[in-house]
Amino acid sequence: MIVAIDGPAGSGKSTTARAVAERLGYLYLNTGAMYRTVALAFLRAGAEVSAESAAVVLPTVELDVRYEGGTMHMLLGGEDVTHELARPEVGQGASDVGTLAVVRKKLVAEQQRLGRLYRHDPGVVLEGRDIGTVVFPDADLKIFMIADPEVRAQRRYDELTARGLGARFEDVLAEILERDRQDRERALSPLRKADDALELNTTHRSIDAQVQFVVDRVREREG
Ligand code: DC
Repeated sequence: MIVAIDGPAGSGKSTTARAVAERLGYLYLNTGAMYRTVALAFLRAGAEVSAESAAVVLPTVELDVRYEGGTMHMLLGGEDVTHELARPEVGQGASDVGTLAVVRKKLVAEQQRLGRLYRHDPGVVLEGRDIGTVVFPDADLKIFMIADPEVRAQRRYDELTARGLGARFEDVLAEILERDRQDRERALSPLRKADDALELNTTHRSIDAQVQFVVDRVREREG
């Protein structure tokens, strides 16, 4: 089974997708972490985000997904960079590199390879912006998560504060709104709800309720 979970930043995708995968014993693939890893490579190379620089930087980007005790780790050139991916500038960089066709082509191919490999055993939960529309238009279940921007910003703010990455709430909200705009308005694979996706508004929902909603829909389809 392929479960596709899409939605804007802070809608609760990662938390929900990870917990759903754990409950079902499925593989969890956070595709945002892949875009973030590419963004980190650009930042480290001091390269601006453009098709021209991507032609130079991207061939040198050796990206790997590893699982340790069910947790997904991102490797860049063999180095575990997972702990660096939560930084706000990496999030914005991910949104920037996500506008480039060469980047999307490389990452979508890898997402499809992993998804196909584990679709039937044990099953996969993929989370991102374009999973239900582009990566797996034939997903067995598609969920589109939404939440009010202020609630999404508060979640990001709490997350950053808990990690000791200080931030101002106003800046976090502005960053979320800008990322939403860029992700929705980009020409390639923009963030949008697939016609056959179920909308899940998490503004007033607990994490447990979100997870249960998705697990119940999976069970119905397994039926
Ligand atoms: O889910 P996230 O916040 O970690 O994603 C970071 C950025 O990566 C997001 O703003 C846009 C880009 N992205 C994308 O273009 N397509 C995906 N499937 C996942 C993320």
